[in-house]
Amino acid sequence: MYTQKDIFIVTGATSGIGKGVVLSLLDKGAKVIAIGRDTKKLISLKKEAINKNNLILEEKDLSNCRGLDKWILSITKKYGKLKGLILSAGIQQIIPISSPLSVEKSKELFEINYFSTMQIAKGFCDRRANIGKGSSVIFISSIASIRGNAGIIGYAASKGAINSGVKSLALEVSKLGIRVNAVLPGFVKTEMTSQWKEIYNKQYLEKLNKEYPLGIGKVENVIGPILFLLSDESKWITGNEIIVDGGASL
Ligand SMILES: NC(=O)c1ccc[n+]([C@@H]2O[C@H](COP(=O)([O-])OP(=O)(O)OC[C@H]3O[C@@H](n4cnc5c(N)ncnc54)[C@H](OP(=O)(O)O)[C@@H]3O)[C@@H](O)[C@H]2O)c1
Repeated sequence: MYTQKDIFIVTGATSGIGKGVVLSLLDKGAKVIAIGRDTKKLISLKKEAINKNNLILEEKDLSNCRGLDKWILSITKKYGKLKGLILSAGIQQIIPISSPLSVEKSKELFEINYFSTMQIAKGFCDRRANIGKGSSVIFISSIASIRGNAGIIGYAASKGAINSGVKSLALEVSKLGIRVNAVLPGFVKTEMTSQWKEIYNKQYLEKLNKEYPLGIGKVENVIGPILFLLSDESKWITGNEIIVDGGASL
């Protein structure tokens, strides 16, 4: 359990995995700064939340990474030093190389999935922004970064960049007492995956279910490992990739 003094930032807080993390942390008594770009979705998050007084809404579009590190510092000046950061904002685009996969499209994916995410982590790792020992950063990567899947070259590469960055960052900030890890989910039913029309096709669902020994994922399946990595239960784990995919990558 947490208290109001335990402050977490969650990006991608308006939907899917990020939203699940926000609601769980509030449920456990923490203070949560929820970052989203859509006012209506942020307001409906507040309506859904219990412990509403512990939820702070911050509206920000993360499609431009510039200045995000300083922005995080300004947030901590307002609300206090942070215990944790969960980086869940991300986009996926299905673009095969012949589609064509343009440099512009690849940059768009990298801007949000890698550059903005890393700039926010940079802001958090500034010693003025975090509580030091006991603080934890979690990047939401994907099994797409370790397992081939046609049509998602840019997305997979942007998540692979996260995995690599996590290891070096973990080493750099270990002396500050900050742990850094990546969670690699498999297919989880959220708004992101609902954009795939095939998901509503029975045959496709059957095929997907066969790939997942424990069945395809629900948001709640990913929350437990994230909460574990935020907690002291994992205080000797850093620089790691935790695969959460119902056995799909076996
Ligand atoms: N679902 C899966 O199967 C799966 C599997 C592996 C990894 N992941 C990763 O898990 C993370 C969460 O995915 P999800 O499935 O929960 O997806 P989701 O439901 O689509 O949520 C994505 C979140 O990112 C936010 N976001 C996107 N672009 C943004 C921008 N430019 N500025 C600010 N916020 C932005 C969205 O905001 P809006 O609500 O405003 O759009 C939303 O809150 C992502 O990084 C994704 O790559 C998901």
